[in-house]
Amino acid sequence: MSVLDTKARFGAVSVFNHWTLAVLTIGLLATGLLIAEVLPESARETLIPLHKQVGIVSAIVLVWMALWRWTQKTRPGPVAGTSAPEAMVRNAMHALLLVGTALLFVSGMMMSLLSGHEVSLLGLYTLAPIADDPSQAAVPHMVHTYVGWAMVVAVLLHAAVGVKHHLLDKDETFVRMLGRGA
Ligand code: HEM
Ligand code: HEM
Repeated sequence: MSVLDTKARFGAVSVFNHWTLAVLTIGLLATGLLIAEVLPESARETLIPLHKQVGIVSAIVLVWMALWRWTQKTRPGPVAGTSAPEAMVRNAMHALLLVGTALLFVSGMMMSLLSGHEVSLLGLYTLAPIADDPSQAAVPHMVHTYVGWAMVVAVLLHAAVGVKHHLLDKDETFVRMLGRGA
């Protein structure tokens, strides 16, 4: 597998970036929803700090992934036979997944900092709270909740389309993201 992307397939770095971001995002969506909807208060005390730190790692991976995409001279487009509207939906979905993750990072930070909590940047530096005001924190909290649910739907659709390409269309879309293919 080559390191760089080519027109025919994703290179090792893009494959690594994708699956790292995918695992982190799915983990964060699951823990976030468990914290907010299911688990008792006692579990929140352990899981929220973990969720916040993994959220910061996912933002670092996201920025690195965006920079890497930008430096690649050629990248795989949609597989042969994809119609123009399908290609637009594909590109829009990829952009939506990246923007959704960024929005969750920003709203998560703002929600914590406006509700009187500090945020440790992986133990290297600690951001002090900006305010302890539930009415100000309510806006980023609402964004975190709605974008979180929208991302659950988007990720399910995105993964289902990937599997459909593999099982029904029997094309290279999925195997390309495993670093294989023509
Ligand atoms: C089990 C879950 C997942 C599967 C099976 C999957 C599968 C795929 C496949 C097959 C592609 C290539 C699509 C193409 O070339 O048209 C792709 C691209 C992409 N996926 Fe996923 N994915 C999953 C989860 C995620 C998650 C959770 C995110 C983000 C938060 C994500 C973000 C992206 C992005 C941004 C691209 C474009 C990659 C690039 O251009 O470098 N995926 N995914
Ligand atoms: C970047 C990826 C992130 C994802 C995918 C994510 C996802 C989620 C989701 C889906 C929820 C449940 C929302 C609800 O129903 O209220 C949640 C809750 C939460 N998230 Fe995140 N999050 C991310 C980053 C962050 C960051 C960076 C922070 C803070 C620094 C944060 C702080 C929180 C807190 C405190 C809750 C609990 C909210 C409550 O009390 O209801 N998140 N997260």
